[in-house]
Amino acid sequence: MTDYHILRKEGFTSDPEQLLVNETLFHNANGYLGVRSNFEEGYPAGVSTIRGTYINAFYDITPMPQAEILYGFPTKKETIVNLCDTQTIVLELDGEHFSLFEGETLAFARELDMQRGLTKRTLTWRSPGGKITDIIFTRMASFAILPLFTIRFTITPRNWSGDIWVASTHSGAVRNNANENDPRVGDNHAQMMFTDRIEEKDGISFLSAHTGRSGLRLVSAVAHRAPEGAKRIGEKDKEEFRMRFKVHAEKGCTLCFEKLSVLCDSRRYDDPLRSAQEVMAEAIAVPLDVWYARQEEYLARFWEQADVSITGDERLSQSVWFSLYELLQSVGKDAFSSVAAKGLSGEGYEGHFFWDTEMYVLPLFSLIIPGIARSLLSFRWNLLPAARKHARTMGHASGALYPWRTIAGPECSGHYPSGSAQYHLNADIAYAIIQYYLLTEDMDFLAEKGAEILFETARLWLDAGNWHEGSFRIPCVTGPDEYTFIVNNNYYTNVCAQYNLQWAVKVYALLEEAGKLKRVACKIGLRAEEIDAFGKAANDMLLLYDPQLGINPQDDTFLSKPVWDIPATPKENFPLLLHYHPLYINRYQVCKQADTILSHFVHEDCQSEETMRRSYDYYEKITTHDSSLSTCIFSIMAARLGDADKAYCYFSISSMLDIDNIHHNTRDGIHTANMGGTYMGIVYGFAGLRIKEDGLWFRPCIPAAWRAYRFSILYKGSRIEIEVDQKRAVFRLRSGVPRMIIVFSQPMELKSKTVIVLPEKEQLS
Ligand code: BGC
Repeated sequence: MTDYHILRKEGFTSDPEQLLVNETLFHNANGYLGVRSNFEEGYPAGVSTIRGTYINAFYDITPMPQAEILYGFPTKKETIVNLCDTQTIVLELDGEHFSLFEGETLAFARELDMQRGLTKRTLTWRSPGGKITDIIFTRMASFAILPLFTIRFTITPRNWSGDIWVASTHSGAVRNNANENDPRVGDNHAQMMFTDRIEEKDGISFLSAHTGRSGLRLVSAVAHRAPEGAKRIGEKDKEEFRMRFKVHAEKGCTLCFEKLSVLCDSRRYDDPLRSAQEVMAEAIAVPLDVWYARQEEYLARFWEQADVSITGDERLSQSVWFSLYELLQSVGKDAFSSVAAKGLSGEGYEGHFFWDTEMYVLPLFSLIIPGIARSLLSFRWNLLPAARKHARTMGHASGALYPWRTIAGPECSGHYPSGSAQYHLNADIAYAIIQYYLLTEDMDFLAEKGAEILFETARLWLDAGNWHEGSFRIPCVTGPDEYTFIVNNNYYTNVCAQYNLQWAVKVYALLEEAGKLKRVACKIGLRAEEIDAFGKAANDMLLLYDPQLGINPQDDTFLSKPVWDIPATPKENFPLLLHYHPLYINRYQVCKQADTILSHFVHEDCQSEETMRRSYDYYEKITTHDSSLSTCIFSIMAARLGDADKAYCYFSISSMLDIDNIHHNTRDGIHTANMGGTYMGIVYGFAGLRIKEDGLWFRPCIPAAWRAYRFSILYKGSRIEIEVDQKRAVFRLRSGVPRMIIVFSQPMELKSKTVIVLPEKEQLS
């Protein structure tokens, strides 16, 4: 492997925005625990930082005041909590305080090593008094022991000898970040964690704390290793424990310290204190290098499974790995967690789970590590009782309605037109279950959990929609494009609901045949007449089509509105949501993100190729891509319609979105949906994968800028590798039994190797 697996940024910058962006880009996480990459030594007053440590799905409840409270409006929400600070390490080097904002930084680099699972900050600093010192901080959120976060730091005096003082803190005095001018960031600045007790045992500090309202508890533990001969002094006050070390440093000799933190929460651990003690005992029983080695082994397995590469484009190749790595860092693998919109890298969107997981992130895991996909879908099954409750609040007598954004189940969206009205989330979850099933044939999951979701979401469609003039219609919903809200017959919603209903019918038959229907049918009181009604609603579903334009209208009034003049809109007025009232935007044809175009991607058989092409040209002109979920879909569909070079342009934006801070808000966290979209850009975009009942469909193409690309996926237990260069696509069966693939609509059995000559571009479009 090459060092494309290392994302590196050289040179120290005191630019406040870049500092914040780097805190996000170089964060360490393992799906359970996430720590932003803040400078250990801190920042001078006035330099803003979001100093944060989070646990996936660990939340507090905060008020969400509604000025005019109407029935069913939520008045509180769940918010991810900044837990504690175990990062801080203040250094005094021979009497001089270490800060990069004083003296001179002679060398500086930050690295994310995606093979080793480590981040590094390497620097050479000249103090105001002229002392030159090399310092390296190495950080890890362990994949082997999820509650473990480590910092190793080495100090090498270059031109001096003297005493070093290290003050390493373990603090409960933290607050969440807030930005009252940006709805995408939380507005809660209040302290959410409260320290109960700090105790020290054998040099290890234990800090027990609880949330203000959600009743969750956390115990963090911190241990240190210092060079031989170091003098140690422990001090504590009400909210903080400080371990101070004094040690003599000799010119040219490197001193090495280690700080190990363990965080155990009460959602996963019955007795967090006991667990923190046990986990810490395990962590310190062996040298840190052992955990580094375990990290590397874990990642070696991951890269073997993930296995994507682009030849001839190092920058984008690296950005694809970065996306995959970040998704691995973000994905929860237990009953409580999923993938937050910002992963575990920041507080944007308050740690909430949206449809982002099912539509953008799950495809990756379904294709490479199905066990994780299953866990994400099981998480949604765990939330079914809350989704049923939400459905009742929203007036539905039967079925379940998943909330637009949540952590543990309740609706946490305060603006229902662009929140709760997005009923498509139900169909998105159903779609993810079906795609997972088609890829894995996991009948046990379907029978135990998946079917229940499919039936309950199908029930909801029946309750939310109605028959009128012979067709089944779904009124008063919002599609993915939040710039247009509360509409009738959003094309995306209707197409997806149709798939949901059709599959509820199919799965009923599948389970009946397998003798597995009874349990779930009894549990939810499912009647055969309901299945007939699902089938009828699916058949009669109204899918809007405009004969004049030859496209699918986004909803039944969309095309009657004036078109927003995007080219004439001042650049600084994007994203529109920060500069115009939502109602004003709603009066125009302007899309925040892919909506109808997304439906063409996920349900391509619902309309003709020509319609998709005309829709693409139409919606492309009125889409601002103000949401990060958009360009990847336009890339995938450009490839589908035969324009690999246009697809490449959109793909480049998606894949560099966080590294280049294209949306100007990477400071608040990475954009996980877009990262999943970047992966999909290769697999579903350039390679043209679609997962259908009769097999895997492909329509490979390649942009002129690349020599080749390659990836492998799992299909019903068989590993299939696809390699595409400028002339040919090669499909190889790497392991498992032969499988059906359909390439450019030609079915073939993949036995060992199949080579397809790529058609000329003109033949594609
Ligand atoms: C998008 C939503 C998305 C949310 C979280 C919003 O800007 O419009 O589709 O779910 O961000 O990523």
